[in-house]
Amino acid sequence: MSKRYTVTAALPYTNGPIHIGHLAGVYVPADIYSRYLRLTGNDVAFICGSDEHGVPITIKAKKEGVTPQDIVDKYHAIIKQSFEDFGISFDNYSRTSAKIHHDTASEFFKTLYDNNEFVEEVSEQLYDEQANQFLADRFVIGTCPKCGYEEAYGDQCENCGTSHNATDLINPKSAITGNTPTLKETKHWFLPLNKHEEFLREWILKGHKKDWKPNVYGQVKSWIDDGLRPRAVTRDLDWGIPVPVEGGEGKVLYVWFDAPIGYISATKEWAERVGKNWEDYWKDENTKLVHFIGKDNIVFHCIIFPSMLKAEGSYILPDNVPANEFLNLEGNKLSTSKNWAVWLPEYLEDFPDQQDVLRYALTANAPETKDNDFTWKDFQARNNNELVAIFGNFINRVAVLTNKYYNVVIPQPAEFKAIDEETLAAVKAYPAVIASSIERYRFREGSQELMNLARLGNKYLADEEPWKTIKTDEERTKTVMFVALQIASALAVLSEPFLPFTSEKLKTILCHSELDSESTWEDISTKDVLLPAGHSIQTGKPELLFSKIEDETIQNQLDKLEASKKANEAANKKVEPQKDEITFDDFTKLDLRVGTILEAEKMPKTKKLLVLKVDTGIDTRTIVSGIAESFKPEEVIGKKVTVLVNLAPRKLRGVESQGMILMTEDEHGNLVFVNPNIEGVTNGLKIS
Ligand code: 2FM
Ligand code: ZN
Repeated sequence: MSKRYTVTAALPYTNGPIHIGHLAGVYVPADIYSRYLRLTGNDVAFICGSDEHGVPITIKAKKEGVTPQDIVDKYHAIIKQSFEDFGISFDNYSRTSAKIHHDTASEFFKTLYDNNEFVEEVSEQLYDEQANQFLADRFVIGTCPKCGYEEAYGDQCENCGTSHNATDLINPKSAITGNTPTLKETKHWFLPLNKHEEFLREWILKGHKKDWKPNVYGQVKSWIDDGLRPRAVTRDLDWGIPVPVEGGEGKVLYVWFDAPIGYISATKEWAERVGKNWEDYWKDENTKLVHFIGKDNIVFHCIIFPSMLKAEGSYILPDNVPANEFLNLEGNKLSTSKNWAVWLPEYLEDFPDQQDVLRYALTANAPETKDNDFTWKDFQARNNNELVAIFGNFINRVAVLTNKYYNVVIPQPAEFKAIDEETLAAVKAYPAVIASSIERYRFREGSQELMNLARLGNKYLADEEPWKTIKTDEERTKTVMFVALQIASALAVLSEPFLPFTSEKLKTILCHSELDSESTWEDISTKDVLLPAGHSIQTGKPELLFSKIEDETIQNQLDKLEASKKANEAANKKVEPQKDEITFDDFTKLDLRVGTILEAEKMPKTKKLLVLKVDTGIDTRTIVSGIAESFKPEEVIGKKVTVLVNLAPRKLRGVESQGMILMTEDEHGNLVFVNPNIEGVTNGLKIS
């Protein structure tokens, strides 16, 4: 039966582009779900938008020397474009800097304020004397009181997911100056979560929420069992929605108070645009509200936002909060700051028009029940062994043979054999099987069932061999091709949630739009014929749905990751602190000269040492240098170098070294010579 759904996907912070972890964890599953719901005739509002407040944005703006507004404008446009590029079919993608959102969030706050749902309290908060500001949320880093993680933020630990007050952190440090904060009094409004504990316990633990994913249910249960405490919902910051009540001057709403209200304001904006009533999607008990989020957002969507909605009183509560675990990349945690990520705009540059390959690889390997690893090898295998070899191969054979044997017109089948009847009956079962996976939020399973349907088609063709029977039994060939075309048509419809671009291409190949009525999800299981005899498919050579990805392409991606890791390590390399002061006399004791390496050979039985003959201008001498892991002997011959010539000789592996060659490191951490390679500089010149 058709229902109304409000499906939300976590509002991404607008301080950087979107990477594969975001796509796999939230947006692809939410899109599969929403597309499926629409295809099965439901009324769906699929809602998202940019989360434009909060400290991460302020920090990014400070770092780049621009305003927070500049940052959110830039990334809002980039993120919105990525979602469009990857076919994430939001009904509305809004932003929290929109006026409608400021108004909606302010009004929500005022309602709770008027209903005495807040506790107003002057308390001591962390303060950075040097930066002259309070340290909210990500402005402070310290040890998590729950799990001991040393880089927990003021409002949340990303390691264990706990949300806490900044003053709970052990050994807090300002993220602005590195200083230890002091405490300073300030007034804030707190949401007394303790007051809602009983309701939450009833609703989630004793209610019908046992069907929530175990990771979500478990985290929420542990939170409630630990006992809930009031949480401040305002902050002493200058970027955000101003606190709209007396005494709120100079303060803003906590980003986690305003962001989820963003789902409501984005729905309002959409409803106004398309002439619907937004309240149907938020205040009607018959509407099913589903939040797709990452696991670090669980507490906000299962405890804090429901408490806000309950306190307001007129809203429905989420029916489910399917949160995924994290996706890692090549064995390491995805990290924006370490640039260990595959960014969507960059993926599209390297793999133009291959959005579905990424969607499929991420779905087939989605971190649904545990953290999972994305590897480029797996991506290649999913493409080459499944999309190309199974799905693409089946469709290509069907289209090519229909073209070749019947000039693109679907033939009239002759008598069906048992294998044909069984195959058609098996196809009819797929909509229910895939639907059951999607409705239970098991998108990996759903994607594999879809691939099984393509496998069924491939096996049918391989067993019935129309390319052989065409020479011996034309009638049989017609039946086989007719059945194969029905499977292709079912694939065109059932693939839409997972592979929307492929589905579209396949519908074009099969000329679905020329049918009296286009097949629906339900038709696949109820209709005996999806593509009738006499219907023509596209003429000409059919477009290949997928193409093989070569090893070289994958290696390029691996090299790119490695290079970005090294560049990042170099950029973040801590500069060693300055050594103890020396006098001018100490300095003049060092005799540094320009020299040239004349000969070089490896010191036998060592990994690190090269034995060099160096022309110092004074003499030619032996110097043993620990550079063999960075240079081959032949690479250094003829190099101009800086030599400390009056270092006391010392024996290394029996060879006397009479000086030292000065080295440093390049941005990738490789050793390089401190090189006086300036025209006219000759050996023996002093460096001072
Ligand atoms: O974790 C994040 O990226 C947050 N910006 C998610 C917000 S979800 C919602 F409540 F808006
Ligand atoms: Zn923790």
